[in-house]
Amino acid sequence: MTDERFARMRPSSAGRARRVPSAGLPPGPRWPALLQTVALVRFRHQFVPAMHRRYGDVFTVRMMPQGQPLVLFTQPAHTKEIFAGDPEYFHAGKGNAVLGPIMGEHSLLLQDAAEHRRARRLLMPAFNGAALRGYRSVVAEVARAEVEHWVPGTPFRSLDRMNALTLEVILRVVFGVTDEQRLARLRPLVNRTVNVSPAVLLGWGYPFLQRFGPWKATVANQRGLDEVMYAEIAERRAAGDLHERTDVLSRLLTVGEDADEQPLADEELRDQLVTLLLAGHETTASGLAWALYELGRDRAQLRRAQQATDDGDDDYLEAVMKESLRLHPVIPMVVRQLVRPATIGGIDLPAGANVGPSILITHARPELHPEPSAFRPDRFLGPGPEPFSWIPFGGGVRRCIGAGFSLMEGVAVLREVLRRYDVALPAGFTDRPKVRNITSVPRRGARIVVHPR
Ligand code: HEM
Repeated sequence: MTDERFARMRPSSAGRARRVPSAGLPPGPRWPALLQTVALVRFRHQFVPAMHRRYGDVFTVRMMPQGQPLVLFTQPAHTKEIFAGDPEYFHAGKGNAVLGPIMGEHSLLLQDAAEHRRARRLLMPAFNGAALRGYRSVVAEVARAEVEHWVPGTPFRSLDRMNALTLEVILRVVFGVTDEQRLARLRPLVNRTVNVSPAVLLGWGYPFLQRFGPWKATVANQRGLDEVMYAEIAERRAAGDLHERTDVLSRLLTVGEDADEQPLADEELRDQLVTLLLAGHETTASGLAWALYELGRDRAQLRRAQQATDDGDDDYLEAVMKESLRLHPVIPMVVRQLVRPATIGGIDLPAGANVGPSILITHARPELHPEPSAFRPDRFLGPGPEPFSWIPFGGGVRRCIGAGFSLMEGVAVLREVLRRYDVALPAGFTDRPKVRNITSVPRRGARIVVHPR
């Protein structure tokens, strides 16, 4: 990113809206907004269920900096209304503004309305069924190389190994980098990018900070990353075999060639690649780590999944991944900001209010998912759960563009693990979720121990 672009990216623009009055909003706690924000962000696994028990299926939380209301919904019928909301007036990009300094202004996650539609149209072909099939063999190769090195009998944090694996998948399958030297240069840059702390992002509103400590280091790292990425983009544009290549970047370089569409410029490509990296890496790793943890603690489930692996039954492995994302949602909720007043579930809501389904609560409702705290992949065989009751990837025009990619990756990785190993938990080990930046991850790293089958 150029210096000018760094200066332009201010994450704090989301907070400048006027205060929205409380009258007519669903009930919610009366604590100061700061307290509610901390509770929602840091202690979501306790706070959101407690609010649901206290206030019922629709409740309002007040968010910093100006006490903006966030109305959370928990019933599929309401979720359906939110996902069907007109994208001209149900915005998602503003709420993600804090990610601007890292992802860049063109990021799919930051855009709304017409700009979002265009970016989505250009990115979609790289995530359709045919494209996904093209990525499978490289994902399997990366997974094989990872699990081959696991040491039988020694417990390890599966989350760390899954993070390393999903990062490698992004570098090879999304960025399409194969040159070992460039990979070696990219890995630490990308690692520092994905680990950038929320404090650094929040400080971006004060440009003078960029001369100091972690902000200075982040700017330097971004420059290093951009240098390598722009070099890769330039080389790829000139490559004679672009049309034969099956990575996401190569596909993005060819979109718009024959349509009446302005192709993606270098800056846009850079921003979308960093977005895919940040959105697709730790999310998939957390889902996979929980899947291994759940299989590790239930021998019958493990045997069933191993049988499916031996039979080439990918549908069952996909059900394992889906159940992992149901029981342990990686993203707790999705949010839309109302640009004009709207009615949801019969409730009139003013412009400026934020609305969204709580994924955490929806996934734990017993009438939608019987025995909700049990890990039962079978729920996803046959017709599966009713519409809008399983929403780990959000929905509507903003539904996660990488949903199919992450399920494909999940299946490929589970297959490589299960065909080689029995998975168990170290004696007496249990885990529960904790918040890491935006995602929920296993607090103790979902430790497992493997033995050759
Ligand atoms: C288990 C893994 C994943 C989970 C749980 C997940 C979850 C989500 C959720 C909840 C959203 C917001 C949807 C909404 O607002 O309705 C989202 C958006 C997005 N995700 Fe994912 N994601 C995962 C994997 C991935 C992967 C692998 C990629 C890319 C390679 C990716 C790229 C994106 C992008 C670019 C968006 C923004 C879409 C838009 O605004 O149009 N995600 N994801």
